[in-house]
Amino acid sequence: MRVAVITGGMGGLGESISVKMHAAGYRVAVTCSPGNKHVDEWLENQKKEGREFKAYQVDVADYESCKECVARVASEVGPVDVLVNNAGITRDSMFRKMTFEQWDAVLRTNLYSVFNMSKQVIDGMLERGWGRIINISSMNGAKGQFGQSNYAATKAGMYGFTKSLALEVGRKGVTVNTISPGYLGTKMVLSVPKEVMDTKILPLIPVGRLGAPDEIADIVVFLSSDSAGYITGTDIAANGGQYM
Ligand code: CAA
Repeated sequence: MRVAVITGGMGGLGESISVKMHAAGYRVAVTCSPGNKHVDEWLENQKKEGREFKAYQVDVADYESCKECVARVASEVGPVDVLVNNAGITRDSMFRKMTFEQWDAVLRTNLYSVFNMSKQVIDGMLERGWGRIINISSMNGAKGQFGQSNYAATKAGMYGFTKSLALEVGRKGVTVNTISPGYLGTKMVLSVPKEVMDTKILPLIPVGRLGAPDEIADIVVFLSSDSAGYITGTDIAANGGQYM
């Protein structure tokens, strides 16, 4: 059984990815932030549904924390075959009002995390001649978004990272891709002010609705599979047609 690590794997989109990957037959390790008080409850609820996960509290913004986490995953679950860099935060603000702390927090959690986690798994994937790194970017990284100069910078940064790493590791059976969701029905998106959502976002989505996390999780499952071995260095957009 292949081993998958999903960062932020208990959250809105992360939970869907964890559940779908579990259903697809992976042994799944999920990470959540240190101090998350819902870990036991989450694991318990999953168990009631017949799903076993391993959970790790890790600050993905911190290199040493990631190193320790992946070493534990390797000894307790197995060497990591699939890494899904899903953990992310928003600190939306118009740029003129944005503080350094808002910029810094988003850069560290959304982009440094991709370096911190990928570094821990890449050597093993190359040695075994098989691996998948899937970075959850965002439509807003490609198109920009009012109030998200920090977040969009991290999501656009993932594209450059992904293409560069894909070039370096393609010959050794490791693929690296991004997925760029549009607006999904998750807590992150539902925190957008209602007036902005109703007037500036929903009317611009051609399919006329928010996306479902499962619609993204299915893409993760596909990119993780052997069938997707010829897909690397690319982005799969799933945004209801909002950005083409
Ligand atoms: N386009 C154009 N104008 C916009 C706008 C937009 N998308 N959003 C807000 N504005 C306008 C407002 O209408 C308002 O105009 P007036 O002054 O003429 O009334 C002005 O900008 C200021 O807006 P606010 O009163 O809301 O100002 P604020 O400082 O309180 O908040 C904001 C600004 C933080 C950007 C807030 O509007 C906001 O949260 N917007 C949503 C940002 C967003 O889309 N975030 C995505 C989160 S989900 C996600 O990130 C997942 C993903 O990957 C897709």
